[in-house]
Amino acid sequence: MTDAHEMGFALWFTGLPSSGKTTIARLLEGHLRARGLRVEVLDGDEVRRHLSPQLGFSKEERDVHIRRIAYVAQLLVRHGVIAIVAAISPYRETRQYARELIGRFVEVYVKCPLEVCIARDVKGLYKKALRGEIANFTGISDPYEEPLAPELILHSHEETPEESTHRVIARLIELGYLRP
Ligand code: ADX
Repeated sequence: MTDAHEMGFALWFTGLPSSGKTTIARLLEGHLRARGLRVEVLDGDEVRRHLSPQLGFSKEERDVHIRRIAYVAQLLVRHGVIAIVAAISPYRETRQYARELIGRFVEVYVKCPLEVCIARDVKGLYKKALRGEIANFTGISDPYEEPLAPELILHSHEETPEESTHRVIARLIELGYLRP
């Protein structure tokens, strides 16, 4: 039987735009690769560009997008890869779908106050959304359903991305996904 530590799993980051999902996901990618593990990052923006350029941000379209990410993650996990997902994935039910499909699933809620995300505004989209130029913008004119029982919550406004990364590693060890 394969050692549980050598099996793949999905590390699923969810949170508001500009909460820090991608930054932490990329840092973790580096840490895990340095451990000799096989890792792929599925970033919402990037996956949209490659697999779903025609999908917008209605609930239905986000659901199709997230289900596609979950499917790809499942294929990777099945082959022993750590699939790191960084996508707003605002709907609880759709994240639950991903969890059930993938099985080995670690949900990380990157929790950051909306005001801080607005102040960061990494891509300048909050500003546009607040001016009414983007419809269905998560946090402004579209819902974000907080996870009720994530494996981990990161408070990205109170800790550095490096600290968050170390907390994720520690939690993965605690859960038995990584070797100490
Ligand atoms: S998700 O809701 O479908 O999971 P995803 O993470 O793939 O979202 O993409 C979010 C990115 O799309 C944001 O970082 C932002 O750059 C861009 N974006 C464009 N329009 C919207 C919108 N209406 N709501 C949220 N993000 C948007």
